[in-house]
Amino acid sequence: MCGIIGYIGKNNALPKLIEGLKKLEYRGYDSAGIAYFHKNNIKIIKSVGRIQELEKKICFKEQSQLGIGHTRWATHGKVTEKNSHPHQVGKITIVHNGILENYQDLKKILQEKGYSFKSDTDTEVACAYIDYEYQKNPLHNMSEILKNCMNTFIGSYAIAIIVEEIPNQLFVMKKDSPLVIGLGTNEIYVASDISAFADKVSNYIILEDMEIGILTTNEYQIIKNGKRKMPTLKKIDTKNQSSDKKQFPHYMLKEIYEQSEKIQLWNTKYLNHIMELPDISKYKKIHIIGCGTAYHAGMIGKYLLEEYGNIEVNVFIASEYRYQKLFIDQNTLVIVVSQSGETADTLSCIKRVQQYKAHTLGIINTEDSSIARSVEKVIYTKAGQEVAVASTKAYTSQLYIFSMLAIRLGIINHNLTLAEIKNTYHQLPQKIKEVIHKNYDNLTSLLWNYNNIFYLGRNIDYVTMMEGSLKLKEISYIHSEAMPAGELKHGTISLMNEETCAIVMATKEELIPKTISNIKELKARGTKIVLLTLDNLTNSIEKECYDEVIWIPKMAPYVQPILNVIPLQIIAYNIAKKRGCDIDKPRNLAKSVTVE
Ligand code: AGP
Ligand code: GLU
Repeated sequence: MCGIIGYIGKNNALPKLIEGLKKLEYRGYDSAGIAYFHKNNIKIIKSVGRIQELEKKICFKEQSQLGIGHTRWATHGKVTEKNSHPHQVGKITIVHNGILENYQDLKKILQEKGYSFKSDTDTEVACAYIDYEYQKNPLHNMSEILKNCMNTFIGSYAIAIIVEEIPNQLFVMKKDSPLVIGLGTNEIYVASDISAFADKVSNYIILEDMEIGILTTNEYQIIKNGKRKMPTLKKIDTKNQSSDKKQFPHYMLKEIYEQSEKIQLWNTKYLNHIMELPDISKYKKIHIIGCGTAYHAGMIGKYLLEEYGNIEVNVFIASEYRYQKLFIDQNTLVIVVSQSGETADTLSCIKRVQQYKAHTLGIINTEDSSIARSVEKVIYTKAGQEVAVASTKAYTSQLYIFSMLAIRLGIINHNLTLAEIKNTYHQLPQKIKEVIHKNYDNLTSLLWNYNNIFYLGRNIDYVTMMEGSLKLKEISYIHSEAMPAGELKHGTISLMNEETCAIVMATKEELIPKTISNIKELKARGTKIVLLTLDNLTNSIEKECYDEVIWIPKMAPYVQPILNVIPLQIIAYNIAKKRGCDIDKPRNLAKSVTVE
């Protein structure tokens, strides 16, 4: 989950490392550090907290042509300076993203050989093991040394290495954690993703699993199984790399606002070419997998595909799916949903389903990501880079793609006319703007001080509420729980009284009277109600049913979920802001979850 960066080149490495770390900070941000050659010695500077804290400790007048850096999301060992990276043992200094699963066994072996450890991390063990192999190898052949290490290491890792006795080379190796190499003019970068150097180079290489990179100022060697290989050079697409916050106070707000203009882009890209999307009706079984928000998008996908395609779809959380018994074969399609394209749990499922010969289709935002490269077919969601940890525009882009796949089937099954569909999608950007610009002040004042908020809905509205609840807990740290409204009386209603609060969504027309009955049951017990419902019902829903209400424009059912999530994103954002939370970088989280 952390970000790693490395630089070797004609310019001063120090500002390059810090600039790169700032761009990677969204991946993990509990502590940071750099190591660099200065007058043939390796200097290490670390700091707990954000990159700005580290920056204050660095003397940028010092010159260095080779260095590595890290922004951490701790997996092993507390957030302390001694546990932050880089780690140094003997002649070796490294930064690491991932988890070394056999670190305890290796630690014992290394302790018997005389190594001692200063930190609680798995990374320091990896570092010591590289040093151990280095000391054993009389010619210090790094390709052999790193190959031996990779054959011993179990787990996931992207590691950048500098060696005290080799001040003109930067080494990298990886398995199951991402690592890219950026090729500039007389300078080479390595990083967890291309955003760290996208404005500095024009070509890059994606390092594959079990590969080693040996880099100098203007040369690179990629080695696999002891043999040099010619890697594919890729061109940086700068269009997709903009991460400017513009006038917005937070990336999350910027990304919420962007949703309306993105719909226009997706309309050109997908709506006008709907029949070119994959026909998924030929499969006997459809599974959708994802984590967090991507899982919620998959759940919406299930409702839409079942409704418009008349095909049964099952949705699974990737961290569960990877270990559960599977009944799939070559007639199964597994749809994989991911914004980052790097989520370790999701990635591992692909490897697993491929053993069953199931087919895979990715709905992915990040182009060329590990998941995008692993699936047979990919539909890119084209949401642009999403920086805020809380996903907003990536979620709506996933819903958009699912709605397209469903409609593609619906055109045949439901006699939907293309003209009618196009008209609906063309109205969507304006409707999103309308919802964004509604007045949420009273609602925020009502909700922001609760310790628990329930999110209720029925059918597809329940799924939207699962996403709303996740948004709230992620960024405001308020506990919340999403629940089908009809399920309340089977247990949870025992918690309800005048000190509780529920946000209720009721937009599935045939089920609204049922949800209203559930609301009345709550009102009878004094619970405060925020209602989100359709704007054509303003005259038919009694005022006694709610304390606050947001009227959402009524649209066709295949786009309604896209519109419905917008108020929930804004509610979470406003509450988190009022509570003074760090909205874009909530505690304990990271944007890209590359560890299990
Ligand atoms: C979303 O707000 C969360 N940060 C999180 O649930 C996220 O959706 C999940 O980790 C999956 O990420 P992915 O889409 O990059 O695979
Ligand atoms: N396992 C390492 C640690 O806890 C690296 C974690 C990461 O990928 O951020 O320091």
